[in-house]
Amino acid sequence: MTVRAPGLRTVLLLSGPNLSLLGDREPEIYGRSTLEDHVRAATEQGRRLGLTLEHTCSEDEGDLIGEVHRARGRVGALVVNAGALSHTSWSLHDALAAFEGVVVEVHLSNPAGREPFRHHSVLASVSDGTIAGFGGLGYELAMVAVARLLGSDEAERE
Ligand code: DQA
Repeated sequence: MTVRAPGLRTVLLLSGPNLSLLGDREPEIYGRSTLEDHVRAATEQGRRLGLTLEHTCSEDEGDLIGEVHRARGRVGALVVNAGALSHTSWSLHDALAAFEGVVVEVHLSNPAGREPFRHHSVLASVSDGTIAGFGGLGYELAMVAVARLLGSDEAERE
């Protein structure tokens, strides 16, 4: 298994367009939990694994790309739920390709079981892996995956 940037224990969670509406937005698909709830759970999971979580949410593709640029050499991993940009943004794809650390793609829903335009993620090929369809649990699972890929002692013991 790849182990990169083991010294960098900070993880940046990026949330893309419309995720700020979680809790209100199509709850039958995305659940009732807010983005804040998911960030809290991921932060807590990270703490147990010896990881520090930062979070940025933006409706804007350019903001997210800028965040990826600033993360280079500074954080060990990115956890990315880019919303619908996952299916369209080659610019975000290219930014992630230039990031040397771990990248985990997360989706609350299972895009493969939804409308055809959601079936393909342009970010999947520049991610170490994708976690989809487990609702908010996906964010916690992503932190476990990051810890394992970064070579966390805590994760190894689980
Ligand atoms: C999503 C899935 C995307 O297809 C959608 O555009 C979203 C949310 C998810 O978390 O399930 O905004 O990324």
